[in-house]
Amino acid sequence: MSYYEDFSPGSPHRLPPRSWVRSGAPTLSLNGDWKFKLWRYADAPLEDPADWDTLPVPSHWVLHGDGKYGRPIYTNVKYPFPVDPPHVPDENPTGDHFRTFTLPDWDVDRFVLRFDGVESTYKVWLNGTEVGVGKGSRLATEFDVTDLLVPGQNSVLVRVHQWSSATYLEDQDQWWLPGIFRDVTLLGRPAARVDDVWMQAEFLDGNGVVTAEVAGTFPITLSVPELGVSTTWQSASDVAPLEVGTVEPWSAESPRLYDCTVASAGETVHLRLGFRTVRIEGDQFLVNGRKVMFYGVNRHETHPVLGRVFNEEHARRDLLLMKQHNINAIRTSHYPPDPRVLELCDELGLWVMLECDLETHGFEFDPSIADNPSDDPRWRDQFLDRMRRTVERDKNHPSIVIWSLGNECATGPNMAAMAQWTHERDPGRPVHFERDHASAYTDMHSRMYATLSELAEIGTTGCAFGGIRPEEAVRQQNRPFVHCEFGHAMGNGPGSLADYQAVYERYPRLHGGFIWEWRDHGMLTKTADGTPFYAYGGDFGEVVHDGNFVMDGLVLSDGTPSPGLAEYAAVIAPIVFGDEPGTLRSRYHSIDTSDVRFTWTREVDGVLVGTGELEILPVPPGESGLFELPEEALDLAVDGETWLTLEARSGHVVGSRQYQLSRRPSVSVVPAKGLGGAEFDLRTGSLLRIGSVEIGGPRLELWRAPTDNDRRAGEWLWRERGLDRLEHRIRDVQIGDDAVTARVRVAAATAGRCVEVTYHWFGVADGVALRVDAVPSAGWDCTWPRLGVRFTLPSVDAVSWFGTGPLESYSDSDSAARVGRFASTLDDLNVAYSRPQETGHRPQLRSLDLDGRLRVSTVPDRTGHRPGFSLSRHTPQQIAAAGHPHELPPSDQVYLFVDNGQHGLGSAACGPDVLPEHALYPAAHSFTLLFTPLG
Ligand code: GAL
Repeated sequence: MSYYEDFSPGSPHRLPPRSWVRSGAPTLSLNGDWKFKLWRYADAPLEDPADWDTLPVPSHWVLHGDGKYGRPIYTNVKYPFPVDPPHVPDENPTGDHFRTFTLPDWDVDRFVLRFDGVESTYKVWLNGTEVGVGKGSRLATEFDVTDLLVPGQNSVLVRVHQWSSATYLEDQDQWWLPGIFRDVTLLGRPAARVDDVWMQAEFLDGNGVVTAEVAGTFPITLSVPELGVSTTWQSASDVAPLEVGTVEPWSAESPRLYDCTVASAGETVHLRLGFRTVRIEGDQFLVNGRKVMFYGVNRHETHPVLGRVFNEEHARRDLLLMKQHNINAIRTSHYPPDPRVLELCDELGLWVMLECDLETHGFEFDPSIADNPSDDPRWRDQFLDRMRRTVERDKNHPSIVIWSLGNECATGPNMAAMAQWTHERDPGRPVHFERDHASAYTDMHSRMYATLSELAEIGTTGCAFGGIRPEEAVRQQNRPFVHCEFGHAMGNGPGSLADYQAVYERYPRLHGGFIWEWRDHGMLTKTADGTPFYAYGGDFGEVVHDGNFVMDGLVLSDGTPSPGLAEYAAVIAPIVFGDEPGTLRSRYHSIDTSDVRFTWTREVDGVLVGTGELEILPVPPGESGLFELPEEALDLAVDGETWLTLEARSGHVVGSRQYQLSRRPSVSVVPAKGLGGAEFDLRTGSLLRIGSVEIGGPRLELWRAPTDNDRRAGEWLWRERGLDRLEHRIRDVQIGDDAVTARVRVAAATAGRCVEVTYHWFGVADGVALRVDAVPSAGWDCTWPRLGVRFTLPSVDAVSWFGTGPLESYSDSDSAARVGRFASTLDDLNVAYSRPQETGHRPQLRSLDLDGRLRVSTVPDRTGHRPGFSLSRHTPQQIAAAGHPHELPPSDQVYLFVDNGQHGLGSAACGPDVLPEHALYPAAHSFTLLFTPLG
C-alpha cells in the first residue's frame, strides 16, 4: 500500500514528539520562496525543478496562482470524495515543493528538519535521498537529517498530497486547504542540549511547586530569576519537584507569568511559567481551588487571505478582541493551532481546551458506511500518535487546562486508548471528548447544541441523552458538564444567549460553554469583473459543498465584530448589576473588582443630565457587593423618560445595566384640522409626501429576508404560506379634509387566510398621524417573521433616533441594547452578513429623524411597548434573493420599516429554534405613528 493510503501515522523514524519551545540553539528558517509544481496524480515522476513556478512557504497552493493550482473546497461533514478508507481518489492534487539552502556553519552535533504543519501527507527528500513521511496536518514532525546534509548548498524536496489516508481523520468543518502552511525549520542541535522539557508549575496554598521533566545533556540548570530560583541537576535522577515559595497564581483574568530558563552547556530554552492547579472535585472543575465558568468560543485557524497560515498580528488582534468582549476561554476547534497562539493565550489570559487534530464525522454521513475508525484497530496507532504529538508539543502552557481527544468521531476503543495514554502522561489536566456520551473514559460530561430543557435535565437528574444505561447516567451526573459548542453564530444571531447563561448559573454542575464559533471563514476573492467578496462553499465551483455553513462566527470575515459578539459580551459580563440599583455580583474567577471603574449616568429623554463615579469597595471574586448611589443619580423630579445607567469598566465595559426611573407622561394623540402638510394618492389613499419630503406607503409587511437560522426553521412554512409574495387589495378609501382612511386586504395567492388592515391618517398639531390596525383572519398556522409597515423614500443618508441601540437587537438577543439617542449613516445601520439577510431592527423606537427633514415618532401602548424600525436600500425579497452582499441589485430607493413585532432569532441553523416567548404569533396589532416635518 502506498504511504499516502496506509494506516501508519508517518515514518517510524520520525523523532519522538517534544515541546515546542523558544531555544537559543541555532535555527535556519526555510520559509520563503520555494519552487513549486502541481501534479494531478500522487505518483507523478520526480522531476528537475528548474522550470517550476515559485510559491511562498508557508502557504496553501490553492490560494495562489489564481486558480492555476486548483481552488479551495468547503465541506462540513461530508468527505469530498468517496468514502473508501484508506483509499483516496486517483486524482489527488500533489504539490512538489523544492528549495535549496546553504548549510550554516554551526557548532552542533545533529541537524533536525522540522515541519510545523503540512496538509495532508508528505514525503521529504534531502539532497535527493528520501528522509521520511509526515502525516497529521496540524501537528509537528521532526526528522534527524544529520547524515544527509553536506557542507555548502543542500536541497530539500517536499511532495505534499492533498488527499491521503490521514484525510479520513481530518474531516473538520472547514476549507480543505492543502500545502505546507506552517513553518519549515532546520534546527541545529548542540552536543550538550535540552531535548525536551516540561515544567509543571502548580499553585498550592499560595506557593509554587515546579515539577520538572527534562531530557537532555546534564548538568542542566533551571532558573526562575524573579523567584530567586537557580538549581542545577547533575543527572536526570536529580530532578525533583521544587518548592519555590510564594507566587502569584496564573489565571485567565490575571495571567501572571514568570520567565524561566532551562540550560545545558550548549542550549538554553526559554519558558514562561504560570502557576495554576487544575482539579476535578466531584462535579466541579476547579482551577486554583475555584470553579471555572467558561465564557468561551470555538476558534479555528482562519484568515481571509492566508487560510490557516499563521499571522501573529491577526491572531493577537482576534484574541484581544475576545478579551475586550469578556470571553475567557478558547476551544482550539478542532486541532492544535500554531504554537504561537498558545503563547498568546498564556500572555493575554484565556483558558484553553486544546483539541487533538482528529475528526471522522463523514463516516456518519451515509448510513451505507459501516466503518468506524474509532473502533478499528488498523487506525489505533494513528489515533494514539496524534494525541501524543498534541500533548507533547503543547504541554508547557499554563493556559491549557483541558485536553480534548478530537471532535465528532464516534466513540470506540481507539478513543479510549488516547484518553488512557493522556491520563497517564498528564494527570494534571482532565480529558474531554464530547462523543464519550457515557463518560466511559473521559473526565467531563460534554454536549454540543443541547437545548435549554436538556441542560436543565443535565443540571438536575442526569444526562438527557438517549441510549445511556442507568449506571452511565450516574457516572455522568458526577462529572462537571461543559457545553463544548452552543450558540451557533451563523448570520444574524444567535438568539437566547442570555437564556443559556441563566441556565448555566442555575445548576452548579454546568460550567458554561463555547460559542460556535469565533470567526467566519470567508476567503477573499473576486468576481469575474473584479468585485472583491468573501467566498463560501460553492463559490469556487466545488462539486460537493456546504454553502455558507462555514460563515458562522461572531466576527465577520473582514474582522468586523457582529452584533452577536456585542450580545455575548453583555451576557457574560463579569460584573452583574442587581435588579435594583445598589447591588452587584462578580463573576470573576480570581480577581476582585479593585481595577474596575464604576460610573453612573442619568439621561432624561436621552439627554445626559448627570454623571459621576461610584465608590464601590472591592468585591472579591464570585461575591456580591452593595453600594450607594448619590441622590442626584436617582432624582425623579423630572418630566420625562429618565434612565439611570450603571457601567463598570476595566479597560473595556465589564458590566452595564439600565434602570428606568420614570416614564414620559403619556400624551394622547389629539386630532387637529387638516392633514399636517401630508399629500395622498386619491385612488389608493397612500401617502405621497409630507411637506417637502417625498415618502410613499404604508404597505403591510409580514416578510423578512430569512436569517440563516430562519432557513433551518420557519422559512419553508413562511414561503409556503406566501408571506414573501403578499398581494394588497384596496377595499375602501375615504379621503377627507382632516382624515384619510384606507382599508386593505392582504393575502397571498392561493390562500384564504388574510390580514385586514386599516390605515387611518389624521392631522395632529405638528404633522400627521397614522394609526395602523391589522387583524388576521382565522386559519393562520405559522409564525410571522415581522408585523409592520413599509414606507419608501427616494434617499436617506443621516439617521438619528431615540430608542434602543446602538446595534440591531431582537427579542431573544437584546442584552447589549440600551435606551438612548444614537446617530448613524443609513449603511452603518445594517450588518453586511456574508449572505444577505434580515438586519438592522431596533425595537422600542421613540422617535427617528431622517436627514433632519422628517421625524417619525411612536406612541407607546398600554404596556409601554412601541414599534421598532429598520432602514434598508433593499426590500426583504431582494435581500433574500442575493447570495452575497455584492449581488444586491443597485437601488435608488430607501425602505423604512416600522415593525410592531419581529420574530426572535433562535439558533436553528444548528441548535434550538426561537423559544415560544420570543416567537411572533399571528395576532391583531394596533399602533400609531406621528410624522413631523422638520426644519
Ligand atoms: C458541530 C461541529 C462543528 C461545526 C458545527 C456547525 O457539529 O463540531 O465543527 O460543524 O457543528 O457549524
